[in-house]
Formats: sequence, C-alpha cells, structure tokens
Amino acid sequence: MDKVERIGVSLDKKLLAKFDDLIAKQGYQSRSEAIRDLVRQRLSSESLNNPKASAVAAVCLVYDHHATMVSQKLIDIQHSHILQAISSLHVHLDHHDCLEVIVLRGAVGQINKVAEGLLSLKGVKLGKINLVATDPNPAS
Ligand code: NI
Repeated sequence: MDKVERIGVSLDKKLLAKFDDLIAKQGYQSRSEAIRDLVRQRLSSESLNNPKASAVAAVCLVYDHHATMVSQKLIDIQHSHILQAISSLHVHLDHHDCLEVIVLRGAVGQINKVAEGLLSLKGVKLGKINLVATDPNPAS
C-alpha cells in the first residue's frame, strides 16, 4: 500500500454484528482487511461491465467425452484463439464425464465471446465462466 487514508464508517449495530460474524467465519483478522477486499471485489466486478477491460477467466466445463467430437471442438476453439486461451486442465471425472478448466486472458468482450462459444458446444452439460478483472488499478 502506498498511502493509507483512514475513514470512519457508520453502521447499524445489527448490520455490523452480522458483518463481524461473516468475516470471523471467513477468517479475517480485522474489519479493515475485510472491507478492503469488499471494495476491491466491487471495483473488479464494476470493471467487468466494460467489454474493453483487461481480465482473466476460468471457464469450467463438464462434458461427456463420448459426445460427438466435443473434445476435438474444445481443442479447435482453443487453437483458434491462441492469444486468449493460455492454459487448460483436464480431469476424467468418471467413465463418461470430463471436467475441463480453460483459462482465458484478454478483453472482457473477447473472453465472453470465446467462453460462450465453448459453453454452447453440443455435448457440454454444465459450464461456468468465472471472470476476474486484472486492471492494475483497483488498489493493491
Ligand atoms: Ni476425460
């Protein structure tokens, strides 16, 4: 942290008690630490509304590897977006299903386009995009 500025926040007692319970369960050592993380998360999620903002995403997919060509199509999409698709992890869940985590990097708009292409493939049963803004500015 470069410079720290102290602020005062007024909260309803019941609301503060609930917040204290929550952050204790999560393992925070102080309210300041918890509040800093909340602010960062809020700023990060706000950045994700901008399609040009820099981000990374973990796209989780569950698919049946017996489904027609789905494994090959997942690979083809990654090769076609070599700048965005920077890594992947494959786990054989059972006889049929596989979990694939594909990491994408780039602008939010590009990431969403590639991720939606992956999720909409025939044979993909479940999927989720977990985007995190990488703007260096939302406070360290
Ligand atoms: Ni597999």
